[in-house]
Amino acid sequence: MRVFSGIQPTSQLHIGNYLGVIKPWIDLQSANNECLFWVADLHALTVPYKPIELKKRTSEVVAAYLTAGLDPKKSIIFRQSDIKEHTELCWLLSTITPLGDLQRMTQFKDKSAKHAKNINAGLLNYPVLMAADILLYQTDLVPVGEDQKQHVELAKTLGKKFNNKFGEIFNLPKAVIPKSGARIMSLTEPNKKMSKSDTPTSYIALFDSPEEIKKKISSATTDSGKEVKFDIKNKAGVSNLLTIYSLFSEQPISEIEKQFKNKGYKEFKESLAELLIKKLKPFRELEAKPEYIDDILKQGAEKAQVIATETIQKVKKSMGLI
Ligand code: TYM
Repeated sequence: MRVFSGIQPTSQLHIGNYLGVIKPWIDLQSANNECLFWVADLHALTVPYKPIELKKRTSEVVAAYLTAGLDPKKSIIFRQSDIKEHTELCWLLSTITPLGDLQRMTQFKDKSAKHAKNINAGLLNYPVLMAADILLYQTDLVPVGEDQKQHVELAKTLGKKFNNKFGEIFNLPKAVIPKSGARIMSLTEPNKKMSKSDTPTSYIALFDSPEEIKKKISSATTDSGKEVKFDIKNKAGVSNLLTIYSLFSEQPISEIEKQFKNKGYKEFKESLAELLIKKLKPFRELEAKPEYIDDILKQGAEKAQVIATETIQKVKKSMGLI
């Protein structure tokens, strides 16, 4: 299977990104799939950002991939903006994309509300670029978090529409959403998704210090009860912390509930903070060597380019451009 997924280099990566996608990617890589894991830097331009930080963030994302266990010998690791065919295919696909479909996208509505002073056309066209990313590589599986499912479905719809209009060019992709961890919630507002664009107290960044981790977990919103029990409806905060505990410790939630029976939230939170401090240690100790990362991106781009060139040639031919 060809597996394809990426992360935007906007602010810091958090444990939602790690549990929702990076961890599942490692399993897909180990299962001998043909994997492309890349950095979605063009997508990151759609919300306000500092140009001077973009390259640094891109390197950080790649460094996090490597620390988590992505292996450049097994997976193609590259940067979106190095392959010009992403934007070329985006334009071609935009000519068959209904405007209404883009206006209905949940992420467009959320981000337009959040960045009311910067509702740019890129924000609206974001899912077309994402469809171009996916279809360009003739992808089978797209492992993403819950919030990206709608975008992957649009990519499939556009691929199908294109094939019907111009001939069988694209492989149709399928989203892969993990059963647990696909939607890690905010620590401060557990009814909202953990997001890197929210206040830093609402998420644990992969590079957070032990002190920051302790502080954020101890002040994470829970409820007025005492029981460490999974109950999304009445105990959203505790349930989220239990999910995080379970995924990092690789223990079922029922075991953790048993372990903290009659122990209260304080003890549970202290234990979770210790677990996170231990599991995130490799990220904190990471020494990203810029030349090494540049080299990985260069080699990844060379491999990605071969697939991208082949697809774009077929697309342009089918559309009467060559
Ligand atoms: P981005 O950078 O917002 O998020 C990267 C991935 O992390 C997942 N994610 C989460 N999973 C669980 N809990 C959370 N709280 C959480 N927050 C984020 C996201 O679902 C995502 O899979 N549009 C994509 C980037 C992209 C892409 C693509 C992905 C562009 N083109 C083509 C796959 C295929 C995005 O916004 O990622």
